[in-house]
Amino acid sequence: MAWITKNSAGTKIETRDEPYLTPEMRDELVNLYLPRYEVRMGALFPALHMIQHHYGWVPHQAMLEIAEVLGITPADVFDTATFYEEYWTKPKGEWQISVCRSIACEFCDATACTEAIKTKLNIDVGETTPDNKFTLVELECIGSCGTAPAAIFNDDLHENLTPQRCVELVEQIQNGTYQPGGTGAVKDA
Ligand code: FES
Repeated sequence: MAWITKNSAGTKIETRDEPYLTPEMRDELVNLYLPRYEVRMGALFPALHMIQHHYGWVPHQAMLEIAEVLGITPADVFDTATFYEEYWTKPKGEWQISVCRSIACEFCDATACTEAIKTKLNIDVGETTPDNKFTLVELECIGSCGTAPAAIFNDDLHENLTPQRCVELVEQIQNGTYQPGGTGAVKDA
């Protein structure tokens, strides 16, 4: 069997003049996080969190900057950022719709909800609409099994969903009538 390889060596990454790691972020990484860990790799998670939290995603340029500040290889940063679903290596939409795909929701037809949203927005799971308004993802159990199927629209938990209700929520966001709060606001972890 022949392996099909990607020409990663020829990959061009998008860059901008302004660094993603601000002087404050660099200072925090060097003086607060690095001293906490025995190995420099230990500060990688806080560094990625910092960028993700500030920009909503982790651009390739930011990965290079993190590697330089932490004294680790860009490949280590890339491997970690692309391994964990928590980190986004592409910009997200203004609204992230996260439909639970775990067993209780699956039994209660979460798949039909996901399909309805996919059709409404004309995107697949993991994609963002061309206007950068919506990103659709699937998550594992979000802790609302008793009111399955459930989904999170940005920070709002919506329970007992139906495909029709999902479409309604999307339409409300599109026409500006969406009321934040959902059926239960998601608390910060
Ligand atoms: S399985 Fe969906 S919320 Fe638990």
